[in-house]
Amino acid sequence: MNKAKKSGTTSALSEAEVNKRVDALLARMSLEEKVGQLNQVGGAEFAPGPKAEDQIRKGGAGSVLWLNDTKKFNELQKVAVEESPSGIPLLFALDVIHGYRTIFPVPLAMAASWDPNVPEKSQTVAAREARAAGLHWTFGPMLDICRDARWGRIVEGAGEDPFLGAAMAAAQVRGFQGDDLADSERVLACAKHFAGYGYSDAGRDYDPAYISETQLRNTVLPPFKAAVDAGVATFMSAYMDLNDVPASGNRWLLRQVLREEWGFEGFVVSDAFAVGNLVIQGHAKDRRDAALRGLKAGLNMDMSSYTYTENTADLVAKSDLSEAEIEALVRPILALKVRMGLFERPYVDEGLLDQVIARPDHREASRWAAQRSMVLLKNEGGLLPLKKDVKKVAVIGPLADSMQATEGSWMVFGHTPAAVTVLAGIRAKLPNAEVTYASGPEIRRDIPSWFESMMAGQASKPAQTQEESDAAFQAAVETARAADQVIMVLGETDLMAGEAASRASLDLPGRQEELLKAVAALGKPVVLVLLNGRPLSVTWAAENIPAILEAWEPGSEGGNAVADILFGDAIPGGKLPVGFPRKGSHAPLYYARNLTHSPEESPMYNPRYWDGLPTPLYPFGYGLSYTTFAFSDLKVSAAQVKVGSSLTVSVDVTNTGAVAGDEVVQLYIHQKWGTDTRPMRELKGFERITLQPGECKTVTFELGPDELGYWSTNAGKWIQDPASFDLWVGSDSLATLHAEFEVIG
Ligand code: GLC
Repeated sequence: MNKAKKSGTTSALSEAEVNKRVDALLARMSLEEKVGQLNQVGGAEFAPGPKAEDQIRKGGAGSVLWLNDTKKFNELQKVAVEESPSGIPLLFALDVIHGYRTIFPVPLAMAASWDPNVPEKSQTVAAREARAAGLHWTFGPMLDICRDARWGRIVEGAGEDPFLGAAMAAAQVRGFQGDDLADSERVLACAKHFAGYGYSDAGRDYDPAYISETQLRNTVLPPFKAAVDAGVATFMSAYMDLNDVPASGNRWLLRQVLREEWGFEGFVVSDAFAVGNLVIQGHAKDRRDAALRGLKAGLNMDMSSYTYTENTADLVAKSDLSEAEIEALVRPILALKVRMGLFERPYVDEGLLDQVIARPDHREASRWAAQRSMVLLKNEGGLLPLKKDVKKVAVIGPLADSMQATEGSWMVFGHTPAAVTVLAGIRAKLPNAEVTYASGPEIRRDIPSWFESMMAGQASKPAQTQEESDAAFQAAVETARAADQVIMVLGETDLMAGEAASRASLDLPGRQEELLKAVAALGKPVVLVLLNGRPLSVTWAAENIPAILEAWEPGSEGGNAVADILFGDAIPGGKLPVGFPRKGSHAPLYYARNLTHSPEESPMYNPRYWDGLPTPLYPFGYGLSYTTFAFSDLKVSAAQVKVGSSLTVSVDVTNTGAVAGDEVVQLYIHQKWGTDTRPMRELKGFERITLQPGECKTVTFELGPDELGYWSTNAGKWIQDPASFDLWVGSDSLATLHAEFEVIG
């Protein structure tokens, strides 16, 4: 594995200079102040605990979160710098997951671009705006691999695959941090939630995760390791019990893996209240015990449970912990503040944000990212792209004019949605057409989200009555009946995915499918646009609707990007970062699984369920274009290669259609036998390319120890086997163009 790049070490100051300044700071700090640096204070009304300003004034806080107020940032920073005993500046932190004011596609959508430039450029803009607002640190990227779409937080990650996830992780870290932490347009990134949160039982958020070491090492941890190699400055420990030891008190994770094996030198913050939660989880005896477990496990900063500030003096006084151990936890926090130049530049220019968010290139970047993230799932008879001379278009559905659904999950506190909705985007695209709209019946969670009270304008309104729902249904059908072309915009609301948003079914919520069927029965040409934060089991639509565009939660420019693609001003080229199950009950479902003794091609194949095949509705890596591609001339540089050496794979890709388009060339391997059984397919290379009609390009990939090695249960370590390998190259995980090679001892 690559040598870890020291976290956040990319700054003008040498390591020696940083250490010297940190030593000088520690030398003049009291124990109470050192513990203060380990305390992250909640800056919002809902956050319990003592007043932020009082804690800051006595040097009892190293960071503040859940505050989004530039003026207030400077006020609190002034208290820290000018009134606290050692004048150590604060780190202001917030969840800027896919944009601060200019909102980008959700991370799952960014991963669907299969283009690392998309997350890198998006998070660069997000960092510039967040920093201009006075923030120093974002709680992103979220790197949880997830193979169970019932888990609501799948929206925040990069899907089911560690190889794609690792590429997206590094790209997001580069976007947030740049290559110099002193850069005043960058923020500290935070690899979260370390680790295994996406494996919570049956996709139920916060439930325990039982993960074997081979699954951890080969699937869950690689994106986190990629973030360390990219120099990520901070980590966040997860909420859930990992194999019965909560991640926030887990020495194996936080000390052995993260520091001893990976050489990480930044710091770890807990998830919200997670240190205090160790008592609730039935792990720690009391808050004092919780604090001790977190500190001993190497968890530097307590996010707003205040267990560290309450108990550490007593823990040291009773020698449960030494002051030296506390200093070791404080050191990386001070080092990052020094590297960021916060001691020299603690305040933010309060006039900067308005200039930054007015930059036209920010919204252009959001529209570009949204175009590249969308996945064309179906286009029967080339219905798409639609013609712009259409006379009457009906835009139908509860999400068609929803700014919240268009911007999606994880909006920063105080953000007021301002997206271009699909309806607005289509109206802007067709100034001469009559574009009508009907929402149809509303959709809502059966059990409201507790985030509703925090999101502007989302306070739960009373549910529609049956009469209101029927009237809305009828109005939508009539609106469709009067049009030449119908565009249905269906999916999930922003609060139906994300945190505390797991669900047992993956069907379209509410009466959406019923409405889709009624509109389809009119015999008009119907295009379905999906706005959603997770895979949906749109099985009826897949069989009956001629064109389906997966638009995810596309951000501030989402409606324009949808219109660009529907009317041919942009060509769809995205691919699924996670397979779409036919039913929620088929989850967890993933392509990189073992053959078993009854594989699909075996005459004794057991179809796994007698009530329906669990094959994906749409497989991992799948996505169509407005053109077609052919793969040919697959070659490997050698039929045999020694353990530890590399070989090159090349393939020719030709645009066989009439328009330019993007293809994502994907390389999958299968080790046919070995110390351990290996998955029937594993993604080990991808490249998104643009080809003009008739153009052919040769794409090459390297396969070496990093791609061919794995963590072995049998051997209890990283190994590379001499063995025979299949390889396939193509446009999705069902690729058929095949070659073989041998790795010899
Ligand atoms: C939340 C989330 C985490 C977020 C943190 C701070 O509960 O689990 O992803 O960064 O609290 O808002």
